[in-house]
Amino acid sequence: MASIRLGDIAPDFTAETSQGELNFYDYLGDGWGILFSHPADFTPVCTTELGTAAKFKDEFEKRNVKMMALSVDGAESHAEWIKDINETQNTIVNFPIIADEDRKVSDMYDMIHPNANDTLTVRSVFIVGPDKKIKLILTYPASTGRNFYELLRVIDSLQLTANHKVATPANWKHGEKVVVSPSISTEEAKEIFSGGVEEVKPYLRLTPDPTT
Ligand code: BEZ
Repeated sequence: MASIRLGDIAPDFTAETSQGELNFYDYLGDGWGILFSHPADFTPVCTTELGTAAKFKDEFEKRNVKMMALSVDGAESHAEWIKDINETQNTIVNFPIIADEDRKVSDMYDMIHPNANDTLTVRSVFIVGPDKKIKLILTYPASTGRNFYELLRVIDSLQLTANHKVATPANWKHGEKVVVSPSISTEEAKEIFSGGVEEVKPYLRLTPDPTT
């Protein structure tokens, strides 16, 4: 399977999950989606990640993003593991976890990297836009848990830059100044952005976050 790249259409699938059989596109509807893989059930880092994801669900929902996780164990195993996650992370896992025993979805999304581990998935993240295109890909090794604040931050950037002619600078957070897209002139930018445009260099123009 060729790897998936930014701008590709996210492959659709129907899979068994901890919430029964689900079709990915139907589940996402017209909103955004985040699909993230975990190496295996009953593993420590994954347990903390899924607990954290559950606690962040409201924040994802505010951004119209639905979560779907994946692990290569079966639905019965997921059900037992979810009890542990709820107990140890003091939360309730409230989104589906794909039971990818046959590796169908893992293979489709190239989540198994044989030189890292030939059976377990790496920690992949795919963010899918309402047009079903892949907007962001992250890949972490099994040994490093993901930062869910960063996932919210990139979603804020993706959603802002999808709707405004801006890009977000290093370490940007919602509400901070953004850079004017290189595709428009400073003259045009001054007409578009009511908050004003600061020209640091002809190619580096700053403007307040247009959504604040
Ligand atoms: C974990 O989730 O804790 C984990 C899984 C596989 C290898 C190392 C850590």
